[in-house]
Amino acid sequence: MSGELSPIDKAKFVAARRAADMVEDGMRVGLGTGSTAAWLVRCLGEMVREDGLKIIGVPTSTRTAELAREVGIAVMSLDEAKWLDLTIDGADEFDGELNLIKGGGGALLQEKIVASASDQMVVIADKAKEVESLGAFPLPIEVIPFGWQTTQSLVEETLISMDVLGRTATLRMDGSGPYITDEGNHILDLHLTRIGNPRQLALVINQIPGVVENGLFVDMCDTVVIGYGDGKVEVRDINEGTIETDRIDFVESDNLFKDLSD
Ligand code: 5RP
Repeated sequence: MSGELSPIDKAKFVAARRAADMVEDGMRVGLGTGSTAAWLVRCLGEMVREDGLKIIGVPTSTRTAELAREVGIAVMSLDEAKWLDLTIDGADEFDGELNLIKGGGGALLQEKIVASASDQMVVIADKAKEVESLGAFPLPIEVIPFGWQTTQSLVEETLISMDVLGRTATLRMDGSGPYITDEGNHILDLHLTRIGNPRQLALVINQIPGVVENGLFVDMCDTVVIGYGDGKVEVRDINEGTIETDRIDFVESDNLFKDLSD
């Protein structure tokens, strides 16, 4: 990455940097996917290399696995690790109850499985991801390729009785072909504008044959670390009901900012 970091990148970085401090020696850590999670992986890699931090990382995508190995983090599969102390991941949207939309990066299935197998889930996000109601960001759902158009019709029909404002589903593309997830599935993006009842929608969508999982994370996230472009970070803990603020300095000449490929 050349030139100065944008305020959004700075916000993502400071959120990731602050969350990295929650990771302790000996922990098994779920590593999320996306540009914010990539900052986290780089920060943890630096802590492993320079401070001797000893952790096992369980990546939520092939992209994250590659980056984790590249920066020196020991990687295990979820089945090898079995249970995790902490998962740290990004989000596309979060609301006041820390319900999330995830899957903008196409990794929602592994992300949900890994977060479900963790004592704690911490979300790292820039302030722009905070919303009053979820749904402006299209809700990704992972569907199997077989009969995906039929699944799409069933999903759109199901949405008629749901508390949402929009009801169209589009197939996510990657160039001229459908986007393929790490599990070989497709993603339908649901353009809902506003989701009135995320819990109900998540349950109903998953009942539709062909749907593997949806990108609504309800009652899974314990803490959100919100980054701002000026280096401020806010840590909100939903269980404790606490909000802490902090400030992170970043030095762009730091090795962390060199040779970035994500
Ligand atoms: C990937 C995700 C990401 O966490 C989400 O898309 C946020 O990405 P970014 O940190 O790049 O804004 O859910 O499936």
